[in-house]
Amino acid sequence: MKERLMEIKQRAIEEIKEVIDMEELDKKRVEFLGKKGEITQVLRGMGKLSAEERPVIGKLANEVRSVIEAEIETLKRDLKNKAKEAKLESEKIDISMPGRKKYYGHRHPLMRTKEELEEIFMNMGFDVVEGPEIETVYNNFDALNAPEDHPSRDMSDTFYITENILLRTQTSPVQVRVMKQKEPPIKIVSAGRTFRFDDVDDTHSPMFHQMECLVVDKGVTLANLKDTIDIFVKELFGSDFNTRFRPHDFPFTEPSAEVDVSCFKCKGKGCDNCNGTGWAMELLGCGMVHPNVLKKCGIDPEIYSGFAFGLGIDRVTMVKYGLNNIRLLFDNDMRFLDQF
Ligand code: DAH
Repeated sequence: MKERLMEIKQRAIEEIKEVIDMEELDKKRVEFLGKKGEITQVLRGMGKLSAEERPVIGKLANEVRSVIEAEIETLKRDLKNKAKEAKLESEKIDISMPGRKKYYGHRHPLMRTKEELEEIFMNMGFDVVEGPEIETVYNNFDALNAPEDHPSRDMSDTFYITENILLRTQTSPVQVRVMKQKEPPIKIVSAGRTFRFDDVDDTHSPMFHQMECLVVDKGVTLANLKDTIDIFVKELFGSDFNTRFRPHDFPFTEPSAEVDVSCFKCKGKGCDNCNGTGWAMELLGCGMVHPNVLKKCGIDPEIYSGFAFGLGIDRVTMVKYGLNNIRLLFDNDMRFLDQF
């Protein structure tokens, strides 16, 4: 019996070593230690033993049982640990792996310029208003004092929808809408899309953007206009930029002027970029609101006066970011737009 027990112990240790999962381990436990297991069978045969042998074999059987139990416990722990490790391994996140990049959109450079301009004027106390892109011929031309034979009215210059409706060629009709609606004092800017029958080239597009400014109050003078433009140009481009007024002609202003900004490269000294003139960009058209326009909008020019200007947002954007082709702003090529 002693040999049998030692053989069982030896075999149990060897066989348990080979076990690879919990299920098999449980089978081994039943096989060796269970009610019908090998040790029990040995103990059942104890009746045949002598009184002296019985406690010796009993003790040995218990020792063997303890050894096998210990083996099983150890392996059980190992298997549990291994299972845990395998689970952790399978759930492991490789934090060194680059994540999937989210693509965030951002402001189009034109919208950035527009918002920057609006911000500057809001800080100067202006209201920001909007006007429709589809306008009446009356608001776009007649109320703005454009003579019947003004070339801009021509079918070859303007997109007409009907005889009386068109795509606005300028943001100036917003002036008319505001003046008809509101008593002075008026201090507004309005930015948006404008349309002209132009062929596309490096600096022209049939759709472009303007910003209109209008101030009407008692005692508004040309000095106020010059001061406002000077302040806003310095805000937009920097304090080392200057402006120059060149006489011009617009139907809706008298007197009228175009405003140039000093060259971005040489800051007014004269260089290749500005053909040695020191002046690089024609920034805007402006003037004192024509009395006819005030009258047409129900404002008494004997009491009130005003100034207005209109500037090209596309052009400002091109100069600001050093673009030489207006198409870049409308192609919507992400390789270009992502740079901003
Ligand atoms: N509307 C003019 C244009 O498109 C720009 C302009 C000039 C607007 C003088 C004005 C102004 O308000 O007073 O060329």
